[in-house]
Formats: sequence, C-alpha cells, structure tokens
Amino acid sequence: MSSDAVPTPRVAVIVVAAGSGTRLAAGAPKAFIGIDAHSILHHCLARVLAGELAQVIVVAPEDRVGDALTEVRAVAGARHELISVVAGGSTRQQSVAAGLRAVWPDVEYVLVHDAARALTPPGVFARVVAALQDGNDAVLPVLPLIDTVKRVDGTRVIAALDRSELVTAQTPQGFRRSVLDAVYAAATVDHTDDAALVQAAGHDVVTVAGDDLAFKITRPADLDRARALLGDPVERAVPSGVLPRVGIGTDVHAYGGEGALWLAGLEWPGENPLSGHSDGDAVAHAIVDALLAAAGLGDIGAHFGTDDPEYAGAHAAVFLARTRELLSRAGFAIGNVSVQVQSNQPKLAPRRAEAEAVLGSALGAPVAVSATTTDGLGFTGSGDGVAAFAVALVVPLPA
Ligand code: CTP
Ligand code: MG
Repeated sequence: MSSDAVPTPRVAVIVVAAGSGTRLAAGAPKAFIGIDAHSILHHCLARVLAGELAQVIVVAPEDRVGDALTEVRAVAGARHELISVVAGGSTRQQSVAAGLRAVWPDVEYVLVHDAARALTPPGVFARVVAALQDGNDAVLPVLPLIDTVKRVDGTRVIAALDRSELVTAQTPQGFRRSVLDAVYAAATVDHTDDAALVQAAGHDVVTVAGDDLAFKITRPADLDRARALLGDPVERAVPSGVLPRVGIGTDVHAYGGEGALWLAGLEWPGENPLSGHSDGDAVAHAIVDALLAAAGLGDIGAHFGTDDPEYAGAHAAVFLARTRELLSRAGFAIGNVSVQVQSNQPKLAPRRAEAEAVLGSALGAPVAVSATTTDGLGFTGSGDGVAAFAVALVVPLPA
C-alpha cells in the first residue's frame, strides 16, 4: 500500500506489457526494446507518471518481472511507491485480469493502457479520467479513419463503408472500477480490448479524442516512427541542427600604467591604472579571446598586434566592435558573454549595469559582468593587477 505521505489515488493505470512482440520480432519482449536510450516501457511509464497521481500496475512477462522493476525504479523517482509489477498471462485479457487483482481497494477508476503505445501524451489520460468523472462507465479514446474503408471477401470488394461511422480504438481505456471488476469476473470469451468486453456485457462506452502519438508500436516500421518522433535530443533542442559554440578567454594586466584606469569598458577616475599597449582593459581582452575562440578564429594576438598603432590606447568598444565584425564575416552571431573579474579595486558592483550596457552594446549581445576578490591570495589578492575570465557563446549563421 501507499505510505502515509502519499494520498491514496482514486485512479489506477494498468500498463499491460506482458506480450512477446511477435510482429516486432526484435529479439526480446516488446516492452523492453529500446526506442532511444530508453525502452518502450520506460517511455510509456514516463508519460503515465507525468499525469494525475495514480496507482500504476505494470503487467510484465512472468520471467521479466525483475527487469520491469528495474525500469520502474529508473523512471518513477518519488512516485515509486505508487507502482507495482505483476506477472501477466498468455493473452492480453489474462494480463489485464492479473493487473486488476492488484488494484488498491479505494481506487474508483481503472485505466487500461498498452505499454506498446509508448508515446501516448498525458493529455489523453486526462481526457479519459475527465469523462469518467463526468459519470461515464467506460471511455474509449478514438481517432477518425483517414483512408476510405471497404468490406472485402478475399480479393473481391463487397461494399464501401461509411467512414464517418468508423473510428480506430486506442488506449488508455477507462472504466468505473466496479464495472470492470464485474465484467472481468464474468468474462468467458477473449476480446482484443477492454471496451469490447465491457460493451459485450451491455454497458455504454463513450469516446474521447485519442492522439496520433498514441499509435501502437507493433511492426518494425512503427518502431522506426517512434524513433524518428523522439529524434536526437540535441536536434530537438536545436531544430536547425546547428549547434552553438562556446569559447573561453582570460587576460591579466598589472597596475602601473599611465593616465586613468579603464576596466570593463568604463573609465574609473582616481583608480590605479593598468599597464598595456592598449588601455589594459583585461575584461575587454578576455571577452575578445573568448569570442574568437568560440568562432575558431585564433586569439587576440592574431588580430590585434601589440605593435599596431591603430590599437595604441584603444578602449573596449573598439576591440569589441572589431571582434563582432570578424565573427560576422566568419558566419557567427554572438549569443551571450559572461565575464568575471578578479581584483581588489575598483569595486565593480556599483557600476555593473553601466559596464554591462557599454560592453553589450558594442557586441550587440548580452554581457554579464561579475567580480570577486581572491581572499588576499595571488597577484590579484596582493593588489598587483587584475585578472579576467570570459566565456562566450556564438551561433553559426545559416549559410
Ligand atoms: N499484452 C500483454 N499480455 C499478453 C499479450 C499482450 O500484456 N499476453 C500487452 C502487450 O505487451 C502490449 C499490449 O498488450 O503492450 C498490446 O498487445 P500487442 O501490441 O499485440 O503486443 P504483443 O502481443 O506483445 O505483440 P504481438 O501481438 O506482435 O506478439
Ligand atoms: Mg498481441
């Protein structure tokens, strides 16, 4: 039973996963075949668990109960106490009956779901439960037919059927628990689904909208479809298939320059200036290196020579605008930049927003500036200079 911490659910979902998968012919019981890194059963349970709190009963092949428990532990997280595994039978109906015997006493509604419909979205479960809560005894998710349908006798067409009267049946199929219990206790004939059994016993079955994604993985082509739908996780996150790229840059400058201190694109009157061929702005130089690295364009020395008079005394905006141009020519847009300064002086926090605005507008992309001291350690701790560390994200532009 559930622990005190978890309220007893009113809904149970029986996930039938005890079939052998003859038509899939993948060398193992179907529920344990991988779609991607995860099995059919894993994907199915992840979607069941994404919905309303429910007791979940997995019906597994008798010799696979241990494997099913391993899958359950991997996917269930905090909800593992709601999930149990029982051994199935030689027909789907026997497997459902085995699951039904494990339903907790307080449960009012039972959903029966094929593990093989692994990609069924949580919304279908929600629609079925809602229709049960509306007072229906039996609820069936359905899809309209797409093709014209004919009745045939061998190879001879007998009649065209009215497609508008026909639907295809999916799972999860939902039932008032008392109805399903009674129908199963009295069942003598095997049916291919539970709605058929309940209807044969004289109960009304109502329909709700199914979902294309609730298709049953039956043949190898269905598994290919599921694989294509899940796709590569990177491709899903980056639909263009073009990955962003990151780069890192660091720079160090010693105090002891002439004139005013320039750091993070700002002039700091009254602060000790940094030395360097340009203005010694370690923050700007670290950002330039990070951006060039991300785009695979080498480093600052390759583009901004220390003997180049153009950059003598130049400030951050000049370096950054030039770097942005170099990246743009190489086919990259700037995503964002994060830079951290290590120094005792100046105190950056009061002018953080100002620095971020100057650097960001030169790059046309967000720049985050943070600062830290080093607890008196190292050359930054002793006040000999500043160090800056930057990471940049750039996005390759479509050719
Ligand atoms: N099922 C079950 N117990 C059985 C037969 C089927 O629990 N004795 C389950 C399957 O695991 C599947 C669902 O019922 O999730 C629908 O069945 P089907 O797609 O036919 O799966 P299999 O019977 O495994 O496949 P096949 O008919 O190709 O052997
Ligand atoms: Mg079968």
